[in-house]
Amino acid sequence: MTQRKGIILAGGSGTRLWPITMGVSKQLLPVYDKPMIYYPLSALMLAGIREIAIITTPEDQVQFQRLMGDGSQWGLSFTWIIQPKPEGLAQAYVLAEDFLAGSPSLMVLGDNIFFGHGLPQMLARADAKPNGGTVFGYRVADPERYGVVDFDNQGNVRAIIEKPVVAPSHYAVTGLYCLDATAPQKAREISPSARGELEIVSLLEMYLAEGTLSVETMGRGYAWLDTGTHESLLDAGNFVRTLELRQGLLIGSPDEIAFKTGWITAAQLTARAKQFGKNAYGHSLAALYKTP
Ligand code: TTP
Repeated sequence: MTQRKGIILAGGSGTRLWPITMGVSKQLLPVYDKPMIYYPLSALMLAGIREIAIITTPEDQVQFQRLMGDGSQWGLSFTWIIQPKPEGLAQAYVLAEDFLAGSPSLMVLGDNIFFGHGLPQMLARADAKPNGGTVFGYRVADPERYGVVDFDNQGNVRAIIEKPVVAPSHYAVTGLYCLDATAPQKAREISPSARGELEIVSLLEMYLAEGTLSVETMGRGYAWLDTGTHESLLDAGNFVRTLELRQGLLIGSPDEIAFKTGWITAAQLTARAKQFGKNAYGHSLAALYKTP
């Protein structure tokens, strides 16, 4: 199989976070000790992905590039793509078609945080599926706010319903999409919805119609946080702070993952740790090559 490539969709307008996001991209905002985009990037890295396209608005691209460069500090390779207008999640596949060049992909939304023991194994299972797609369902208390999975009696996915009035289950579709090489071609066939967007649900419905869409549900050992409102942004920051302080371990650190995966050397990690020597993030990196 061709090597799977990654996409981080980090455009959008962030209107729910106004006035903050009138001056800065949502995905550059802090989630405790790191910029938000570090977390979805970490999810792709845990899936073993090193070639990643980052899609941003035209205005914000320079700031993202200043933050993240070409990815070589983490042994990664970034391709920068602009989404001129926020015309939907599925448009990412049209914009990334040249980058993907026939490869399957794992796309993550730039404001989604995934955390849980066994995440790499779960992603590896999705990666191993040669054709079709896998999305990840997460139990939420308020499914009406999300795209919701409708399961049949055998637990197979029957439909995905966007913001249902009466939710068919408690399982929301998270912002992580593991799709085969046909995604760009399918995305090009989608017509814009009433709100003028190429809807991700429309793309998933095409896979459903082919009978090739699977839903992996994340159990209670996982956290899926989205950070699109003032409350959820603060909650996510507090969640990360609580776990990091309690365990003395980092969550969502590309530096740590790159080092532990062997994509950067101890010398490279040391250089990064020195750069951040004034704060706890730097100290945690420095501790990585001293303590297991
Ligand atoms: P949303 O949270 O649905 O939209 P938004 O970020 O524009 O925020 P708001 O609803 O407050 O106006 O987007 C989910 C993620 O997808 C987020 O990381 C931004 C990204 N996105 C794009 O990059 N392009 C798009 O066209 C859309 C709709 C979203």
